[in-house]
Amino acid sequence: MDKIFADNILQGKVAFVTGGGTGITGGVARAFAEQGAKLAIVSRKIENLEAMKAEVEAFGGECFTVAADVREYEAIENAIKQTVEHYGKIDIVVNGAAGNFLCAADQLSPNGFGTVVDIDTKGTFNVCRASFEALKESKGQILNISATLHYLATPMQIHVSAAKAGVDAITRNLSVEWGRHGIRVNGIAPGPIEDTEGMKRLLMPELKEKLTRKIPLGRFGRIADIENAALFLTSDAASYVNGVTLVVDGGSWLLGTSLT
Ligand code: HXC
Repeated sequence: MDKIFADNILQGKVAFVTGGGTGITGGVARAFAEQGAKLAIVSRKIENLEAMKAEVEAFGGECFTVAADVREYEAIENAIKQTVEHYGKIDIVVNGAAGNFLCAADQLSPNGFGTVVDIDTKGTFNVCRASFEALKESKGQILNISATLHYLATPMQIHVSAAKAGVDAITRNLSVEWGRHGIRVNGIAPGPIEDTEGMKRLLMPELKEKLTRKIPLGRFGRIADIENAALFLTSDAASYVNGVTLVVDGGSWLLGTSLT
């Protein structure tokens, strides 16, 4: 894709990114590093982070890795502490860690429902809560990765729909409560994005062509589309944008084509 932004728009910033090793959020993390941010990336398994660390270091960026489960508050508190010790501050927090699988509501166990809510919603709260003091200090910001599944209704996705509706509520609440501390809180709701783990799990290949025809812009999204939205929201270009979840879906959800 052609160069869109000026160089180094995040120079000197420190970004703490959960789920930052792979997928959409991995792309966002790499894009931040390409724009001069120093990264701390967090995942349950350190091996999920190694490829991203190598990629970032190969172009001269800095990447600190921490293994922590967003469901465990103490582990996240510790990851935040280690990041502040390592870089001296945190300016941007991205909540990208997420769980997903397809399951009909009448087959889903209470623990299956709760597991996804714990990862997506409680995990987002945990990371926001644990980073509050650091963000207050830096007048930083939070970017929550959401979805459009819950705008209408998405069969087989009751757990993720409920979880992401909760994430959107967190975005709105914290933008109001923490805006007064100079902390901006926004979200991005990606639509159908190709080449992601989520799409591989959720989309049967034969459905892809059918779905493509229904997307108003006539194509699947690319991880780069989400990277660009994330760069805009976290840059000074969006310094008066607070409490928004920016939908990046080619207009799909308006036609009820968010997934199938
Ligand atoms: C039904 C399932 C299931 C499945 C797990 N469970 N997988 N139920 N169908 N395929 C149930 C289990 O039976 C169990 O309940 C409970 O969930 C917890 O499962 P565990 O495997 O013990 O949990 P854990 O190891 O913590 O793993 C949770 C996980 C995780 C959610 C399955 O492994 C995961 O999310 N992996 C995928 C990560 C991923 O794809 N991330 C990208 C998300 S994309 P019982 O009752 O049996 O104990 C995204 C975008 C959404 O979020 C928008 C898309 C358009």
